[in-house]
Amino acid sequence: MSKRFYITTAIDYLNGEPHLGHAYEKVVADVIARVRRSLGEEVFFLTGLDEHGQKVQQAAFAAGKDTQAYCDELAEVWRAVAAKLHLSNDDFVRTSEPRHTQVVQQILSKLHAAGRFYKAQYEGFYSLKEESFLTEKDRRPDGTFDPSYGTVIPLVEDNYYFNLSAERQWLIEYIETTPNFILPAYRRNEVLGFLKNNVLEDLCISRPVTRLNWGIPIPFDNTFVTWVWFDALVNYLTVPAAHGDPVVSAALQTQPSTPGPPLSLWPADIHVIGKDILKFHAVYWPIMLKAMGLPLPKQVLVHGWWQKDGQKISKSTGNLVDPVAVIDEWGLDAFRYYVVRELGIGPDGNWTDAGFAARYSAELANGLGNLVNRSLSMLKRYRKGVVPPRSDELASELNGVIQQVIDRLRGNQLQEALTSIWGSLVARANQYVDQTAPFKLAKDPSRAARLDEVLYNLAETCRILAVLLWPFIPSTAERIFGQLGLPGAPNRLSAATWGGLVSGHTIGEPAPLFPRQDLAPKPLHGK
Ligand code: MSP
Repeated sequence: MSKRFYITTAIDYLNGEPHLGHAYEKVVADVIARVRRSLGEEVFFLTGLDEHGQKVQQAAFAAGKDTQAYCDELAEVWRAVAAKLHLSNDDFVRTSEPRHTQVVQQILSKLHAAGRFYKAQYEGFYSLKEESFLTEKDRRPDGTFDPSYGTVIPLVEDNYYFNLSAERQWLIEYIETTPNFILPAYRRNEVLGFLKNNVLEDLCISRPVTRLNWGIPIPFDNTFVTWVWFDALVNYLTVPAAHGDPVVSAALQTQPSTPGPPLSLWPADIHVIGKDILKFHAVYWPIMLKAMGLPLPKQVLVHGWWQKDGQKISKSTGNLVDPVAVIDEWGLDAFRYYVVRELGIGPDGNWTDAGFAARYSAELANGLGNLVNRSLSMLKRYRKGVVPPRSDELASELNGVIQQVIDRLRGNQLQEALTSIWGSLVARANQYVDQTAPFKLAKDPSRAARLDEVLYNLAETCRILAVLLWPFIPSTAERIFGQLGLPGAPNRLSAATWGGLVSGHTIGEPAPLFPRQDLAPKPLHGK
């Protein structure tokens, strides 16, 4: 049993519906998963939902529904969005599933037996309205709490804590000696700065059931439920445990619950997450894993946050981009392409409807779409769709670009890979059409051999583009393959070498890939 490349996303809170930020992260992870598959690796891609907590419990109550039934309904909406995004996930984890509860409780029991938890009294200020503890940082300059917190009372409460006092030094050393553990590098520096300049406070892992009962009971004290991170982060182990991963089952004594042969998944190769949950993944999670006797994930890959029109994306102000509305209007691949092309993995980004429409028109409709459509239409018109003899005119130039793109894909430089594809392949091939002017060659029978060469070079470039683009825009890539009359999917990067198109092969029917949207852009987000 060989270990699979195991990639995960953050699991989304089950309140509200998915927005651009959630969709972006999932598409990024999906592109990486598809790149790895296309490189011939066995991959396991996991995404899912984080369902416990006060907000979900309250929302279910307000809707007059049983909490589990409420979650089951909403989870279907999120699953449908995952399917709409064409995510190639191999499993979908929900923290309200019994398989998750079992693993969380197993871990808590193990760490409790190892003496890693203690019970202590927490004394603080508590907002009745928000049902949360406030800290000194929440005070306004005049010492009062913002009226949005409602009545704030002093509260004393017992809770369980995870002892972190002895953990700081080894973690600093680990991060310093493992440069690819946290990427991009500036996020790694942020974590190192945090660890070096702060005392690591013990992590509160429980809430009394009197205050929260929609959670996983603490196995050694059922007057408490597990609070947040010992629940959410464990999802990354739940699924390996369920599939009988040997490393996880040996460390945690779990039994598989999924039929089929066991899968080797742990350690995760990449956790894709947003910048706001970096500390939990790069500080608490490694410490939790070490305490469990499990190896650490190989990489935490941290993306930035999207804004819309320069403002925070927010349900309360209505400043949202609804991925489903965009996909319904412009097509899935336009959405997938835009988000990955516009925002590299790292900095924050800004969505504007005009920016989206501009890239759609220039890069998809007039760039890629026009290239494929005119290349294949000319082959159809001038050669009845039959591929002419092989010509290597663009071969060496393109092989260099292909290598650069594949190197970037291997390094998860997704935006940079798209820049190369458009800058050096799409634009180059469109320029080649203009320079060689096949429509003029077609009028002169003495130039038939030259026309053959040009048509071969263009069709072969389209084939290679389909292969390179498949991880990003799989449906479009498959349509290009279909229009080329090629069987199967362009899902093997090894096929991105010059000369794959065979002379004498008859292509299929050309059809526009990206219909031109000539009307002024309508607002895309309307909900
Ligand atoms: N449930 C926790 C994660 C637990 S992971 C073990 C959570 N959920 S979330 O729904 O709030 O966020 C899920 C992911 O979406 C996070 O990685 C977060 O950074 C990302 N995003 C949420 N809003 C975002 C933007 N506006 N832009 C980009 N990504 C953002 O945190």
